[in-house]
Amino acid sequence: METILDWIRWAVSRMDEHDVFLGHGTQNYLDEAAWLVLGGLRLPPDLDRSWWDARLAASEKGELVELIRRRCLDHTPTAYLLQRAWFMGQPFYVDERVLIPRSPFGDLIRGDFHRVLDKQEPPREILDIGTGSGCIAIALAEHFPDSHVVASDIDFGALSVAAHNIDAYQLNDRVELVQSDIFDQLLDAEGQPLRFDLIVSNPPYVDPDEAEDLPDEYHHEPAAALFADDRGLALVERLLDQAAERLNPGGWVFVEMGNGRHWFDQRWPNHRGLWVDLSPAPSSIVGFPREQLADWRGEAG
Ligand SMILES: C[S@@+](CC[C@H](N)C(=O)[O-])C[C@H]1O[C@@H](n2cnc3c(N)ncnc32)[C@H](O)[C@@H]1O
Repeated sequence: METILDWIRWAVSRMDEHDVFLGHGTQNYLDEAAWLVLGGLRLPPDLDRSWWDARLAASEKGELVELIRRRCLDHTPTAYLLQRAWFMGQPFYVDERVLIPRSPFGDLIRGDFHRVLDKQEPPREILDIGTGSGCIAIALAEHFPDSHVVASDIDFGALSVAAHNIDAYQLNDRVELVQSDIFDQLLDAEGQPLRFDLIVSNPPYVDPDEAEDLPDEYHHEPAAALFADDRGLALVERLLDQAAERLNPGGWVFVEMGNGRHWFDQRWPNHRGLWVDLSPAPSSIVGFPREQLADWRGEAG
């Protein structure tokens, strides 16, 4: 095996042999293998195919064998092997302290929140709860150039990854990191609750009972980023209970629920949230205007 093409072809076959799971950035083994091999060679992911005939040095082959071994036998996601993931077409540093970015919040931001926020001024004060790598907070800061974004997480490891990315995007003056358990530490200098025009969160929402059914790749991600008690609803319930007092008038909160939407709708069948259209993907983000939050469960009748 001499050329880049040889190595991509070999990686595809090994991925197929070992039932590698795809769910962190690519849809097929050819794209996954090209990402791994080109990244492992420190070449751009969109390298022109005319270069795929280039021959590899012996040391490069050794490095690729190790990367392909870890991808296929340890089932380590490619993003962790290369310490790089893509969100809204932009690169982010990642390691095993953070979830690999893949949130549908990217579509919502790209689509300008589907005009849900259109009727008012662009949000100035924004909060991203459970920021992980900081990808959503950074995307929001770029999308709303006059905004100030608080990016919070309970986990110091995640915050240090987010700091790295905020630095790389030179957004230190507009994206502020705060360690906080949901809203608990989000206070101003006088100890008063900070308030926002827009709150977003991709919280942990996977039912712990589903853990053993998840592909091995997911077990490389931090458990605290994936799982929440009470069928995955524990955090979102706390967040929504407190969100009204953390929003300015006219503000909105959006929470990603993923497959947990099923449990959310089952637990609170009359809830007053809006499942945001993410078609062709099924909707998995629920939004509430501040005015609906006093009775977000819809139980007051
Ligand atoms: C699903 S990950 C989302 C990461 C990132 N926002 C993204 O979309 O890629 C959830 C994040 O919430 C954080 N988290 C878990 N429990 C939390 C809590 N009680 N308060 C704040 N953050 C929490 C985790 O550390 C993790 O970084």
